[in-house]
Amino acid sequence: MTHAIDISCAIGGKKLPSLIMNASGPLCTMEDHLRALCQSSSGAVVTKSMTIEPRDGNPHPKYADLEYGSVNSNGLENLGVGRYMEVISKLKKEFPDCVFIASVAGLKEEDYYNMAAEIGTVADLIEVNLSCPNIPGKPQIAYDMEASDRILKTINTKTQAPIGVKLPAYCDPVFLKEAADMLMKHELAYLSLINSIGHTVHVDPLTDETVIHPNNGRGGLGGAYIKPIALGQVHAFYQLLGNRIPILGVGGVYTGRDVYDYVLAGATGVQVGTAYMQEGPAIFTRIAQELRNVLAEKGARSAQEKLGMLKIRGVNT
Ligand code: DHB
Repeated sequence: MTHAIDISCAIGGKKLPSLIMNASGPLCTMEDHLRALCQSSSGAVVTKSMTIEPRDGNPHPKYADLEYGSVNSNGLENLGVGRYMEVISKLKKEFPDCVFIASVAGLKEEDYYNMAAEIGTVADLIEVNLSCPNIPGKPQIAYDMEASDRILKTINTKTQAPIGVKLPAYCDPVFLKEAADMLMKHELAYLSLINSIGHTVHVDPLTDETVIHPNNGRGGLGGAYIKPIALGQVHAFYQLLGNRIPILGVGGVYTGRDVYDYVLAGATGVQVGTAYMQEGPAIFTRIAQELRNVLAEKGARSAQEKLGMLKIRGVNT
């Protein structure tokens, strides 16, 4: 009876019926996208990263499917915080059980505080995106520990809503430790690991052109290519943070087995980006069932039971 297997999780004091949700980015910009997520089995509804003002984002083509994933340089196309306040308020009435996570991406520091103060009154949680790689002239803030520290400290004074943080990959143990030490100073509902890997190039062999246009053809890489990198970040942060901050794994989740790998590495939940873009909202039901099947094969009655249970080859437990 695999349906009896518990794949719920708790984030920021909210119980989510499924630990599998959408990642901020694909198919979560427009009201219709968000409604489709409310109607799906996604464990929560995560919005596209919003800015103070609406934005058209970068010129097309700005997204491409690749053999093992996707590349994007969307440029923060979004409806603006004011419209997301209206949309979330409306959808909350239609879908009172849905948990809404509003992703915010400031173009300057004050924007984070102003958006949090507003959207935190309607959304259940806020995902503070410190890792957008696609805005020309704007850094991925999470590589600046002092700025990140300041933003997380101040944003928590501006809203009652629990705060999650979206981070980039730190592929060096010194930076991982520095980031973990900084993050532990703050009250955080979760870490979302990881954002797309920025500034990657993909060549169309027919035309010798890059497959996307903006940013000199360079964009954020997602999908199967980045799963080992994301799993490494989940595993490293789980070891550094213990159970102090729940982790949501993002990167190359296509199947229940992918989710299971993330749980083993230390993820309380996962967010699905490229595969959701490619398959649409029905993916959440499919992956949830596959995860239940994997857990059943392993003799587990809940996903939680397997949290952080990754074994290291050659180490006897
Ligand atoms: C965009 C891409 C990201 O990876 C992100 O975190 C935020 C915004 C974008 O290009 O719109």
